[in-house]
Amino acid sequence: MSQHRSSDGELEKIETVLLLEGIYRRYGYDFRNYSYASIHRRIWHRIHLEGLSNVSSLQEQVMHDSDAFFRLLGDFFIPVTEMFRDPETFLVFRRDVVPLLRDLPYIRIWHAGCSTGEEVHSMAILLHEEGLLDKTRIYATDINEDALQRAKDGMISIDRMKQYTKNYQAAGGTRSFSDYYDSDHGVVMLKPHLRRNTVIARHNLVTDSSFNEFHVILCRNVMIYFNNKLRDQVHKLIYESLALEGFLIVGGKESLSFTPLADRYETRNSPNRIFRKIR
Ligand SMILES: C[S@@+](CC[C@H](N)C(=O)[O-])C[C@H]1O[C@@H](n2cnc3c(N)ncnc32)[C@H](O)[C@@H]1O
Repeated sequence: MSQHRSSDGELEKIETVLLLEGIYRRYGYDFRNYSYASIHRRIWHRIHLEGLSNVSSLQEQVMHDSDAFFRLLGDFFIPVTEMFRDPETFLVFRRDVVPLLRDLPYIRIWHAGCSTGEEVHSMAILLHEEGLLDKTRIYATDINEDALQRAKDGMISIDRMKQYTKNYQAAGGTRSFSDYYDSDHGVVMLKPHLRRNTVIARHNLVTDSSFNEFHVILCRNVMIYFNNKLRDQVHKLIYESLALEGFLIVGGKESLSFTPLADRYETRNSPNRIFRKIR
């Protein structure tokens, strides 16, 4: 009997490591330190859709067929987002952070992992209402080019307008949400003046470095897909990109506890995950 038997779970881990290594070497995308549980789910979703039976067969397919790779890539990017997502975070930002930004001569904000741009559009509306948009530059980045194109176009899903209007009001919006978009033949677009101060560009948090210094960084619901090692690496990049006394906002299920840089921040609002760099 062989002494080299692996359980099915262990074997699948080996196959997954090989698949991710292959993708990295063949296509340059580095998912090797994404959370195993999340990557595993995405891989099996794709295996079923392609009518395959195991991870190695998917590996063979994506190595030889770049279209198949791009289909899998689409599964790895998780573009879920919405306007004024977690409305209370925007409400607290408006109440507690905006007054501290007011005195700055200019403001730089980075949305790292902005997906299709709804979070960025929400911030632009908020800053416009607070009279700060003209002196702000918003940088919005993501790894996913298709999502970035949608963000650049300022497209908003028409079927989600009801939810977004509710979110806007819960986030402290005082005007009519419809003031902020044009709709034409079923296509809804954010008004151009709200997009004027936004720079949208591709940036990979895993492989690219810091590119500016910011007063506010939002990196929400991105690092939940990373393992601890990668999370710490990205926190370092964020820390290096944040001005002293700048604000970091992460997603509702994320935390700075247990990261090596936790003591460099003070918690400004715990339920809404707003932190301030203090050293
Ligand atoms: C769930 S969405 C979050 C969008 C938005 N921040 C929000 O909270 O609504 C996660 C985003 O992270 C992006 N992402 C994943 N890995 C990334 C990486 N290495 N660099 C930059 N963005 C990444 C995905 O493409 C996706 O758009």
